[in-house]
Amino acid sequence: AYVVTESCIRCKYTDCVDVCPVDCFREGPNFLVIDPTECIDCTLCVAECPVEAIYAEDDVPEGQRHFIALNAELATQWKPIVERKDALPDAEEWASRKDKLGELKR
Ligand code: SF4
Ligand code: F3S
Repeated sequence: AYVVTESCIRCKYTDCVDVCPVDCFREGPNFLVIDPTECIDCTLCVAECPVEAIYAEDDVPEGQRHFIALNAELATQWKPIVERKDALPDAEEWASRKDKLGELKR
């Protein structure tokens, strides 16, 4: 499956959502995840994300591997998002920040 990683946190641009053929994105307050039980590895979402948050599971960078389990966990708790919407208001400010995991709201 594909995995949403840290750079999405507090940005949530949602461009990824529109291209997913199986509607497997799930939405939290300031982050999206991919439901790994539904993702068909089509790759389409990767190029859509302006902050390059999405990776194939095998390619998730060292130091972000914990996002694999986090996507799986939160996908069972959050609701589907099937249409693009406005990014979070201060998305641009947060786009280049690192170490945002502490900012994640569940
Ligand atoms: Fe959806 Fe394809 Fe991205 Fe998986 S890889 S989340 S199926 S757009
Ligand atoms: Fe997040 Fe990128 Fe989608 S910021 S909501 S993974 S377009």
